[in-house]
Amino acid sequence: MGRIFSGVQPTGNLHLGNYLGAIRNWVRLQDEFDDCLFCVVDLHAVTVWQDPVELQANTREVCAAMIAAGIDPAKNVIFNQSRNSAHAELAWIFNCVARMGWLNRMTQFKEKAGKNRENASVGLFAYPNLMAADILAYRGTHVPVGDDQKQHLELARDIAQKFNNDFGVDFFPVVEPLIFGEATRVMSLKDGSKKMSKSDPSDQSRITLTDDADAFAKKGRKARTDPLPLPDDPKDLADRPEAANLLGIYAALADRPLAEVLTQHGGGQFSGFKQDLADLMVAKLQPITGEMRRLGDDPGYIDGVLAEGAERARALSDPVMDRVFDIVGFLRG
Ligand code: TRP
Repeated sequence: MGRIFSGVQPTGNLHLGNYLGAIRNWVRLQDEFDDCLFCVVDLHAVTVWQDPVELQANTREVCAAMIAAGIDPAKNVIFNQSRNSAHAELAWIFNCVARMGWLNRMTQFKEKAGKNRENASVGLFAYPNLMAADILAYRGTHVPVGDDQKQHLELARDIAQKFNNDFGVDFFPVVEPLIFGEATRVMSLKDGSKKMSKSDPSDQSRITLTDDADAFAKKGRKARTDPLPLPDDPKDLADRPEAANLLGIYAALADRPLAEVLTQHGGGQFSGFKQDLADLMVAKLQPITGEMRRLGDDPGYIDGVLAEGAERARALSDPVMDRVFDIVGFLRG
């Protein structure tokens, strides 16, 4: 059946984009696949500087969000990446397999490094190699990701193939991306051309998983729109980014196709629709944020989940790494 691996960064300010684009989709996969690993990627986080105290808090927050959203820690492996040294070890081997030219083409590096590439960390450049190692340390086969991670997954496939070629083995599987449909890209509530982001200076631009019902309602009502009524046809949203974003969020939360939402709401005014959206956010998100707050008060429980998850993760990666070391020619005990 295959094995799922996915990761999310412990960046703090978890928002609706993280939930709809990643975590929510994982909840569904746990029923379809026997083996699912969901990893809080703290090693990836430190490719840009993180405050150590905040990193710990954010790691717990992401773990709490997964559980609150419905990922069962008994059935799935939930852990933080640094706890299993296989990730860093395999990433080093992949640093020696991947080519500079491949990494130079990665758009996320170019975006994150900005103009001052000379000053970016070496880790940020090698980020995709670590991501390939995350998946392949478990010989993962299916990886649910947002659209923006597609290029990294193609690189993971290239690395797996080159490793197999270089050593004349058929060891690493071909990794399949699972890209989810509507609302994998949730945009800012203030500017439909920008992704919803934890680093936007305006808190009004995002719905976070620490917001309460009042904040959902207020942000929903105040979200930017255009003066036109809602269209009847999804095609008419092409040049209306704010309208498209709110409708996409609504469709995703309601778990209904966009066209169906427009059949119901098309022709109406945004003021009424935004009230409905606010109600929907309260109904769908409040149970999750409430559970997150409850879990937040019980760090001992969260730490226990992560520790146990790491142990199970190591049990899965140990035999893979034994084989890898053998294939590469490292003498081990
Ligand atoms: N790079 C991913 C992101 O920023 C997170 C990630 C790290 C990941 N390792 C992974 C996702 C492995 C899928 C598989 O969203």
